[in-house]
Formats: sequence, structure tokens, C-alpha cells
Amino acid sequence: MQDYAKLWLGYTPKKNNRGCAELRKIRLSGAPESDRIVGNAVRELRNGFKEMLDLDPQIEYGPVGTGIAAKCGADLQERETYSIAIENDVLSIEGKSATAILYGAFDVLRTIACEQSVTEVYAAKKTVRPSNPLRMLNHWDNMDGSIERGYSGESFFYVNNEIVINERTEYYARLIASIGINAVVINNVNVKQAASYMITDRYFDKLAQLGEIFAGYGIGLYLCLNYASTIEIGGLDSADPLDANVIAWWKEKMAEVFARIPTLKGFLVKADSEGRPGPFTYGRTQADGANMLADIVADYNAIIIWRCFVYNCRQDWRDKKTDRARAGYDNFMPMDGDYHDNVILQIKNGPMDFQIREPISPLLGGMKKTNQMLEVQIAQEYTGHQIDVCYLIPEFKEILGFQTYCSETDDTVADIISGKTFGSRYSGIAAVTNTGNDFNWTGNYLAGANLFGFGRLAMDTGLSAEQIAEEFVRMTISDDDEVVKEIVGILLPSREIYERYTSPLGIGWMVQPATHYGCSVDGYEYDRWGTYHRADHLGIGVDRTDKGTGYAFQYNEPNASIYNDPQKCPDELVLFFHHLPYTHVLHSGKTVIQHIYDTHFEGYAQAQELAARWDALQGKVDDAIFENVKERFARQLVNAREWCDQVNSYFFRKSGIPDEKGREIW
Ligand code: GCU
Repeated sequence: MQDYAKLWLGYTPKKNNRGCAELRKIRLSGAPESDRIVGNAVRELRNGFKEMLDLDPQIEYGPVGTGIAAKCGADLQERETYSIAIENDVLSIEGKSATAILYGAFDVLRTIACEQSVTEVYAAKKTVRPSNPLRMLNHWDNMDGSIERGYSGESFFYVNNEIVINERTEYYARLIASIGINAVVINNVNVKQAASYMITDRYFDKLAQLGEIFAGYGIGLYLCLNYASTIEIGGLDSADPLDANVIAWWKEKMAEVFARIPTLKGFLVKADSEGRPGPFTYGRTQADGANMLADIVADYNAIIIWRCFVYNCRQDWRDKKTDRARAGYDNFMPMDGDYHDNVILQIKNGPMDFQIREPISPLLGGMKKTNQMLEVQIAQEYTGHQIDVCYLIPEFKEILGFQTYCSETDDTVADIISGKTFGSRYSGIAAVTNTGNDFNWTGNYLAGANLFGFGRLAMDTGLSAEQIAEEFVRMTISDDDEVVKEIVGILLPSREIYERYTSPLGIGWMVQPATHYGCSVDGYEYDRWGTYHRADHLGIGVDRTDKGTGYAFQYNEPNASIYNDPQKCPDELVLFFHHLPYTHVLHSGKTVIQHIYDTHFEGYAQAQELAARWDALQGKVDDAIFENVKERFARQLVNAREWCDQVNSYFFRKSGIPDEKGREIW
């Protein structure tokens, strides 16, 4: 028996022909029939038409064209652009590469699966140019099978330090190609133990095999690299990026690696962060480290993606000057322009670490001469562990739409990472993935919406969170209009609800240390991680203004002045930037303390409403899906109640100010 769910590729029979019965042929143009990606596209089309419509259209091949060799991100976008049109009785899918044709095929199948009429949707030619050149998933899978911050079982790539390739591997490639993912990093950014040996003979054959499977679906294979490989597996005593022996070792190593894994596209590196080694040890900059590796892999047309998550994780909580939020900018901004052409800096969306609410990293819009990539997290590390429902696409839409004021036009995060703003050579978006070997891939069935949604949004940042949710539900759970409406209604507000019952006004953290699930208001308050709320009996928040850590001035104007002023700063971020009395009045007209009480009571009540809405779907969705989500909701409610009561009690006890509405506080 198949041990994984088909998710959105589980095509079910459709009630009518969706405008397809009149189609005589499907014509694929732009790549040869012999190309295996085209072969996969044809197989998808045949299966999908058969399963959904019981039709067997004739496939024919149009002109092949000259193709484009991708030398930069814009070439990649051009190469992966597809058009779909209906001419007479022929459905024509056209692109400049086989991958474009594959994406076109999935577009057609999605249209049918979502119960739309093919003849109507493609009556006017539809052209989709990927919004981002790189659309990437980062697996934090360890080779022992565990997954760092994984909430859906174990890894499906590794068992007992061996790489596993089976039916599920190919299915995974189909699944993510169908939403437009074109790059995957298959191992944890914290490269230790067996993973350090990925670039040795021990794993080459399997990696080559995996790379081939991915390549059949237009997906590039990437690995995380141990920066200190020269020491840990090379027997040298240094990893100094300017040391000739170190450089020579890497040259030889990379020649071997690319010869043995020809499909490999590059590496992702976490250096000088949370105990991982890096160039700082040798008094070198992050640019020195990244450029050294990039120059070597350039010979193989490969890239180095270098993470900006570099900060001091051994801080003293008594120290109010050191500010973790400043670290990314302080460490990377001074070298803007120094990073070589095939280096991309990968920047987490916020300056801290994937909290439910953070300002946008000031590096995005700060750096103007560096290739940049946005990193988001669909693994719900701080957003409910795929127990609590938290549909993240509305958050990602906000991030992408953020205006950085880095140029007169095209200055949003979406513009920057698309490559448009600075004409970057490479750019894009990556998500820390939420998958594992659970039957349903993502623990909670509804968390599948984040995987699906991330891919769809990376491909087309213009799509709305609602449209994406609707597609997901129709393709994965039910195509009954009413059920779709209900589940979309559960997904859409879920992030706001999660925010309400957890940490208020942008302050973040307040989670159980280590696991990051559940409430612990002071869990990180007297710790070394730079994650403080600084609450006392008078007020709460971190002063990041010009009178505090100065973080607000890492932004371009007018953002800097807006964030610096508590009267102008948006409510949802006000405690991120300011230390304020509990009696401070927000734009909403409420005091800080009353906001805390109201949002927590409301958030918990709204979580209960979501659970009740789900309960009402019994018998209307598949039993296994129903039970899975119901069981998660039961746990979510326990969690939400704890958050609500603990946060309210904590701040009542600190401030002594009662709830205006006299509700029960402990
Ligand atoms: C967070 C997370 C770690 C992870 C790190 C990273 O701090 O808790 O598990 O390694 O982010 O992004 O590198």
C-alpha cells in the first residue's frame, strides 16, 4: 500500500468535462519529445485527463526553438515562462524549455482539478513568468532521520545515515514541481556528523541518483556545506578562507564533487552562527568566506547561498546595548558590493527568528549591490508545530508587499527578490520546509496549505492568499463548494488568531525554550539568546529607537522615523521597537494592557470557533482527514487556553491593572 497521501495530485473524477471534450489535441512546443522532463509532463497530462475526465487527448509536438542557457536569474525566469492557449480544438502549451512545458501542464491540470473550464480560462492566451528565479525548499533533515524543527515524522531522505530513494522520492519531486519549486536543499543547515561526509565518496552515488530524479522535474539539487570541512574531513588544521592550503583543498574537493554529482547546482552555508564554524574564527569577513567558495564553484556554473542568520547567541541578558535584531545588518551590510557574482545572501524575513510577528529584515532594501534571497519558514517552529492551524500565506504576502524605499520604484521585497530592483544576477525565495514522512507529509493536513501556498506564491507573488487556499482545498480535500468555503474560512484568519493568543504587539518569544511550543512568558528572559521582552511593573518592550539600540535606523526613511516614533509605529510592532507603559494608548484606542487582555481572550475564543467549524465538517470530508485535523484542534485549544491564561495572568500580576471587562484572570 502507498504510504503517503497524494495531496493535490490526487486527481478525482470531475462531474463534467470542463470544456475539454471538444479538445482534439494537446500541442507541446519549445522542447523535444525526447526530453525526459517533457516525458514527465506528458505522463502527468495523460494521467490527469484520464483520472479526472476519462479523456485521452492526442499529444503532438510543435517547434522546439533554440532554448536559453541560464546564465543568470532573469534567464531562468525567461526559460521557465509558459503560455497556454486554445487554438481551434488544440490546447497549446508553449515555453522555452522542457520545464516551462511541465509547469504549463500542471497549470492545465490545476484548472481542471479546481473545476474551472479550460476553454474559458485559456480563451485568451495565458502567460506565466515566474516571479522569482529561484523558488527553493530548505530541508532541515538530519542524516540519522531526525528533522530539526520537524513536526511531521522523520525524514524521507535519510534513514540511519543512509540516503533512501524510493517511490516517495519521485512522488515528492512531482508534488513540488507541480507548484513551481525549482531548487531543493536536502540537508540541515547545521551540518554535523554524517552530513559532513555528503561531499565524499560515501554518498556520491546516491546523491547523483537523487539529482537525476529531481532534474527530471526541473528541480536543482543543493547541499548544505560544513564550512570547516577542511578540518573535519580534510585533515587540515585551518578553515581560513584566505589560506592557500584551504583554497587548494576546496578546489580539489569541488572538482571531485561536481564530477560525481553532475546535476548539483550549488551549496547553502550557515557559518558563524549558533556554534557552526565560519570565517570569523580567522578574523575574516562573511564575504571572504562566501567568495572563496563561490570562486571555486563558479567553474561548475554553481552558486553559493550564504545565510545572514549570524548573531551573538551568548549574550548577557543584563546587557541592554547588544541587540540581536541589529546583527544581520551589522555583519553583512558593510560588505555590500563585495560579494561575488555567484553568491546569494539568504535573509530571514525578520531580524530575529521567524516569530509570528516581526518587522522585515532591514537587509532587504539595505543592500543594493548584492544578490539577495528571502528565507521564510513553513515548518511551524514558532507558529504552532503543525498542531495549531496557522496558514502563513497572508504573512508572506505582507512580507513581499513591504515597501523598503530602497529606490524610487520597484522597491518592495517582492521586487527585490524577483531581481527587478537591482538587476541582480541571482535572487529568489526559500522556505524551511514543513515536510516529513508522515502519511500526509505535513503532520496536520491543513499545514499542507503552507507547502502548496509557498510554491504557488513563489511562482506568482500576485496571487491572493484566498485564491491559493481555495486551490489547495479543492485539489487536496474536497471540491464541494460549501466545504471549500468553510475550510478556506478556517485557514484565512488562522494566523491572526494564533498571533492574538500568543505574544502581543510584535514582542515575540515568550515560548517554552528549546521546543518552542507552548507558553513561557519568561522562558527566554534571563537567557543568552538575545530574546527579551523587558517587562517590569510599569511597562514592557524593547527600546530599539535612537535612545535605545538604534535598530530602527537600519531602515531607509521614512520607515526609520516611523518605527522610531511610538506615535507612528504600527500597533502590531510597537513593543518590538519601544518600551512602553502598560497605560500607553495604541492607535486602536486601547491601552497596551487592555490590548493584551482583549486579544488573548478573543484569540482563544476564535480558536474555539475554528475548531467548532471543523467539527461541523464531519461526514463532509474524508474521515482520516477529519480525524487528523480534529485531534490537532483539540491540542490547539489546550495550547491556546494556556497561552491566554498565562499571558493575561502574568501581565495582571506585573501591572496590577485589572481587565476593564472584569473577565477571569488567574
Ligand atoms: C532557529 C532554530 C534552529 C535553526 C536556526 C537556523 O534558531 O531554532 O533550530 O538551526 O534557526 O535557522 O539556522
